[in-house]
Amino acid sequence: MGSPVRIGILGAGTVGGAVHDLVATGHLARFGVDAEVVKVFTRRPEGKPGYATAPELFTTDPAAVTGHPDVDIVVEVLGAGGAEDLRAQKEWVVDALRHGKPVATANKALLVAHGAEIWTAARESGRAVRFEACVGGGIPIIGPLTQSLAAERPAAIYGLLNGTSNYILTEMAQRSRSYEDALASAQALGYAEADPDADVSGRDAEAKLLLLASITFGARLMPGAIHRKGIERIHAIDFLYAARKGRATIKSVALARGVDGALEAMVSPMVVPERHPIAGIDGVTNALFFKGQVSDGGAPGAGDWDYVFAGPGAGGGATAVAVLGDVQELVARSGDAPFLPVESIVSGVDSVRPQDDLRASFYVRFVVCDQSGIVGELCQILGEQRINVSEIWQLEHTEEELESLVGRGKGGTVAHEILPFVITLEETSVGQLRQALERIAQKDYVLAEPLWLPIWGA
Ligand SMILES: NC(=O)c1ccc[n+]([C@@H]2O[C@H](COP(=O)([O-])OP(=O)(O)OC[C@H]3O[C@@H](n4cnc5c(N)ncnc54)[C@H](OP(=O)(O)O)[C@@H]3O)[C@@H](O)[C@H]2O)c1
Repeated sequence: MGSPVRIGILGAGTVGGAVHDLVATGHLARFGVDAEVVKVFTRRPEGKPGYATAPELFTTDPAAVTGHPDVDIVVEVLGAGGAEDLRAQKEWVVDALRHGKPVATANKALLVAHGAEIWTAARESGRAVRFEACVGGGIPIIGPLTQSLAAERPAAIYGLLNGTSNYILTEMAQRSRSYEDALASAQALGYAEADPDADVSGRDAEAKLLLLASITFGARLMPGAIHRKGIERIHAIDFLYAARKGRATIKSVALARGVDGALEAMVSPMVVPERHPIAGIDGVTNALFFKGQVSDGGAPGAGDWDYVFAGPGAGGGATAVAVLGDVQELVARSGDAPFLPVESIVSGVDSVRPQDDLRASFYVRFVVCDQSGIVGELCQILGEQRINVSEIWQLEHTEEELESLVGRGKGGTVAHEILPFVITLEETSVGQLRQALERIAQKDYVLAEPLWLPIWGA
């Protein structure tokens, strides 16, 4: 590799612009890497950082980056579009590898959709693909999991992988805001996109979890294969029940763990006890906890410890730092060490547990029309499904709270007729719970679809 290291960038958005600026201002020089950006692909060069002073740096042809004889390393920071766009982006990454150029990417959607073809091209070309920025933005996670912790045997990875969802839930918990209010505030502060669906539905966290599950457990899963639930139906009163009755809060948790040789994975809001460290991670912060079997055994109290990684999960600067960390590593390894042969990861996991077989204790919030005998009937239906009730929680509510609950369900009911309450359940399977709730949903007195959430560790 020549000196200075010559970087070509695919993409000139938030992250691409920040990568350009950090390289231009010598941010890699601290550890002795002399680098420069020699080509940038964007469909719209005008107005991009650096364009005014050096328009010749820009091209509207991706091949002018991936095949450029003077580019040593390709940084791929394209925004993901539809399936067609991802296929085109995959071709560009594969083209860079075939031209002998290692790649650092921030594009998790690309790896989730086309990882297999990209790893194959990396292996055939003997060039590395690094993707630290794909999970947790600026937090170093992939490097520690694949290098520092290579000798650990994974038991579980779990955490808060979407800053937008964590910000919204934190605002609801700490300031009793409605979901709609907290989302509007996230958008006003630039934490949520105009279309927030990928964040609040859990799809973004799911893509990150699938990457983590592949490097930790060797599991190759496609989106849709795991249980995923968004945060859209959480109501401010759920935080009241969780806090006052369960000494807990609600967090959107991504979890993958090996249980009896099978992988269990899900992204879902969960009721998390206040004493668990994950409950205290607030705002847009991301955090990943890694439970290893080596660190988990042995010394007294060792089982209480997980490895914890936390920090800024997004933002142009933080993400560009992660991308350039990969560039630094590629330079240190001369760019030719094939990285992460995902297929060869020895996982100890040989199947993926079907969604309906996932087991947990559950929080179920009901909103019914206030009549006598309803709680008894619900408990009977649950019992017929072989589900044991643990506790029944009930709080006083304001008229405003009650009306906002039914606004989301069947309208036309006056506040004093609306009765919310929570039933917590002993451990059962998702499938059994779903069947019971399908029966319950048909009852006339049910005013809103019951909300069910796993209870962490109960
Ligand atoms: N922003 C973050 O905090 C963050 C954190 C972690 C990972 N990432 C990932 O980093 C990547 C870049 O994010 P960003 O925030 O920089 O996005 P962005 O500001 O929207 O910029 C996206 C760039 O990709 C280009 N692009 C989008 N769709 C394209 C298509 N179909 N064909 C060709 N070019 C296309 C855009 O082209 P034009 O210049 O032509 O408009 C732009 O240069 C994404 O994959 C994202 O998931 C971002």
